[in-house]
Amino acid sequence: MDTRLLLLSDFEEDLQHVRQTLRKFFLLTEYPITADNVPDLSGYPGAVVGIDLKKRDLLEQYRSYCEKAGCVEIPKVFLVDRGSRQDVVQAATLKARATVDRPADTRKLLDAVCNASDHFRALMRNGPNHCLEASQSGLECLHVITSAVQSGLPLPRAVFDRSAQHICNAIQHGGALEFLSAINGHHSYSYRHSMHVAGLTMAFATHLGFGDRDKTRMVLGALMHDVGKARIPLELLDKETPLTPEEQGIVRTHASLGYEILKSDGNWDPLTLKLVHEHHEYLNGTGYPRGLAGEAICDPVRMLTIVDVFSALVDKRSYKDPMSPRGAMQMLYSMSGCLDMDFVRAFEPLGLKIIEDLKSVDLAA
Ligand SMILES: [Fe+2]
Ligand SMILES: [Fe+2]
Repeated sequence: MDTRLLLLSDFEEDLQHVRQTLRKFFLLTEYPITADNVPDLSGYPGAVVGIDLKKRDLLEQYRSYCEKAGCVEIPKVFLVDRGSRQDVVQAATLKARATVDRPADTRKLLDAVCNASDHFRALMRNGPNHCLEASQSGLECLHVITSAVQSGLPLPRAVFDRSAQHICNAIQHGGALEFLSAINGHHSYSYRHSMHVAGLTMAFATHLGFGDRDKTRMVLGALMHDVGKARIPLELLDKETPLTPEEQGIVRTHASLGYEILKSDGNWDPLTLKLVHEHHEYLNGTGYPRGLAGEAICDPVRMLTIVDVFSALVDKRSYKDPMSPRGAMQMLYSMSGCLDMDFVRAFEPLGLKIIEDLKSVDLAA
């Protein structure tokens, strides 16, 4: 279920209210049309356009941006000044499916977006959308982590508890495939990865018969597991070529950094701390940061490590193609000294099924 919505904006308009409204219902991504970098936006099912329609140079910029981004034909709703015939005509020239007066009324804006796109109309008919709730609250977590960690402020635990609960609900009600489809198209690897790992951890724990409370605790830890990466320079995390050994050393500090961030917060339970600190430890003692071995590594950590490695292998990065689910399972089996093979075997049918189904959904989309 693709809930992505584009917001095409300029810097002239105050769109704060529009953003807040749309984020409650869609996986909203905003692109300023004045930016030099133009991404490929052709896959989006719908867009809202909030630009000053009275400025000729902006209209030209808008046309050229849409051409380059491949989003000319995407169904679009334009924001127009109330009572401005000129804006309405201009929007029609730019192929608007609908217009909404500024300041945008929540109900009218949602109706316009849904009516403009068959895809969203079908989506809204399906009642409460747990996947959307989960994907939105996951995005909120990412924003909160980035801003809190960089400014040294404590992490608001309630935001993460709520998000973990939303992920559990989404998978309980709609299944892992629907949840993963909803987040799979997001451009941010950090977001995709933490949500992917949290979703697969929930599916794995359910598969093994864990109770609700334990599942929620594991999902919370999985959601937070790479929190320390907020302190790693972005140029290393987003590097388009393989890391040098020295750079790898820096990235590896994220497990200890994450642990320190949560420990100094004083607000997190021991399992979350363990999952964050130990998810790169291997049973034979060759992992990091402490080289723990054997019984020192508890079952939830062993499970998370498997899901984390698998998820990284099957996802795409700028420097590597996604590995096939079968290839990723072979890789897990090749790590027999490092990973718990009983858990790898238990995970196999789940990983193969979900990721293979997910690939066929993506190809069909
Ligand atoms: Fe990690
Ligand atoms: Fe990870």
